[in-house]
Amino acid sequence: MPTFSLNINGKDYSIDAEPEMPLLWAIRDYAGLTGTKFSCGIAQCGACIVHIDGAPVKSCSFPLSAVAGKRITTIEGLSENNDHPVQVAWIEEQVPQCGYCQSGQIMAAVALLDQNPNPSDEEIDMAMTGVLCRCGTYPRIKKAIRKASKLS
Ligand code: FES
Ligand code: FES
Repeated sequence: MPTFSLNINGKDYSIDAEPEMPLLWAIRDYAGLTGTKFSCGIAQCGACIVHIDGAPVKSCSFPLSAVAGKRITTIEGLSENNDHPVQVAWIEEQVPQCGYCQSGQIMAAVALLDQNPNPSDEEIDMAMTGVLCRCGTYPRIKKAIRKASKLS
């Protein structure tokens, strides 16, 4: 079985696994970072979004062989004290309901604001399409993204 070197949230990991193993398994089961969630497993819901070199990726459907040498960031790596502007806005707007989708939502929002610090409502809709919330927190998500764009 090959060994893969991963850098997750600035920390190096050596993982013995099959090349096609989803990155999400490495994050949750090998690195023990459980903030990133598994839901559909087929790149449809966004619960598993992390950043690879700053870009949002659905880690349930991204093979380990494609991430060697890249910088992976999970929800745990956003800030030490939950004080990333998006996290602050999320808390102030009390966005989560059950919470299951929320790390994916936050990671998608952070990637959007990194690329486009002042997105229009249409740009927010486009960036967040495909990040599903069964609790229907979409209005609060949008409000929090608008707030975070002013805090950044
Ligand atoms: S669990 Fe990865 S997109 Fe749904
Ligand atoms: S807060 Fe429950 S699924 Fe989004």
